[in-house]
Amino acid sequence: MLVFSLTPEYYAAYVLYNHTMLVFTNVFFILLLLGLCAWMLDQFQTLVTMEAPWVKTPNEVLDQIAEKITIKPGDIVYDLGCGDAQVLIQLAKKNPNATFIGVEKLNYVCALAWLKIKKAGLHNVIIKKGDLYKLSIKDATHIYLWIYPQMVNKILPKLERELTQGVTVYSMDFPFHGKDPVAVYDLSGVKNKSYARKLFEYRF
Ligand SMILES: C[S@@+](CC[C@H](N)C(=O)[O-])C[C@H]1O[C@@H](n2cnc3c(N)ncnc32)[C@H](O)[C@@H]1O
Repeated sequence: MLVFSLTPEYYAAYVLYNHTMLVFTNVFFILLLLGLCAWMLDQFQTLVTMEAPWVKTPNEVLDQIAEKITIKPGDIVYDLGCGDAQVLIQLAKKNPNATFIGVEKLNYVCALAWLKIKKAGLHNVIIKKGDLYKLSIKDATHIYLWIYPQMVNKILPKLERELTQGVTVYSMDFPFHGKDPVAVYDLSGVKNKSYARKLFEYRF
C-alpha cells in the first residue's frame, strides 16, 4: 500500500497551484465575457446607426479588383470600412512599395484585420480604428469603398472637400448620385449572389 506523507511544503505548493489555476480560469472567463460584450455592443451600434454591416468582398472578385486598381510605389490607398482588410491585403501583396490604410469602426473586426495582416507578414498595411466620416483622408491617392448606398452619398461631400489631386475612388456596387463614373467594371465569377457585381471608378 502506498502512503503519501503530506509535508507542509507539499501542501503549500498544492494550495498555490490550485489558487493560481482558479485565478487564471476567472481571468479567462472575464476576458471572454468582456469580448462578448464588446462584440454585442458593436453589433447593436451597427443596427441602430443603420450603417453597413461587415460583409466580405467575395474571394472570387479579389483578383479582378487588384487588376483594375493601378497602384504606383509611394501611393496611399484607403479602404473606408475595411472589414478584415482582405482587399488591402490582396493589393498590398501585389504592391509592396505603396501604403495601405484601412479604416474600421468595429473593435473585433479591427482585431481580426490586424491578425490577418500579421499572418500575411505585411508591413505596409495599417488599420485605423475609427469613423470613416471623421478620419482625414487628405493624403489618399486611391480609395476603395463598399458601404451602403446612403453612406456612399453621405461621404461624397467629404471626398469632394478633401480629395483635390486626381484621386481615384472605387465604389463596389453603389454609384454616387449626381457624379459620373469614369469607368464601370462588370465583375464576373460571383455565383448566386446579387452583390459584388459592379465596380464604379471615379476621379476626384
Ligand atoms: C460591406 S463591409 C466591407 C468590408 C471590406 N471593405 C471588404 O470589401 O471586404 C463594410 C464595413 O464598413 C464598416 N463600417 C460601417 N460604417 C462605418 C463607419 N462609420 N466607420 C468605419 N467603418 C464603418 C463595417 O463595420 C464593415 O466592416
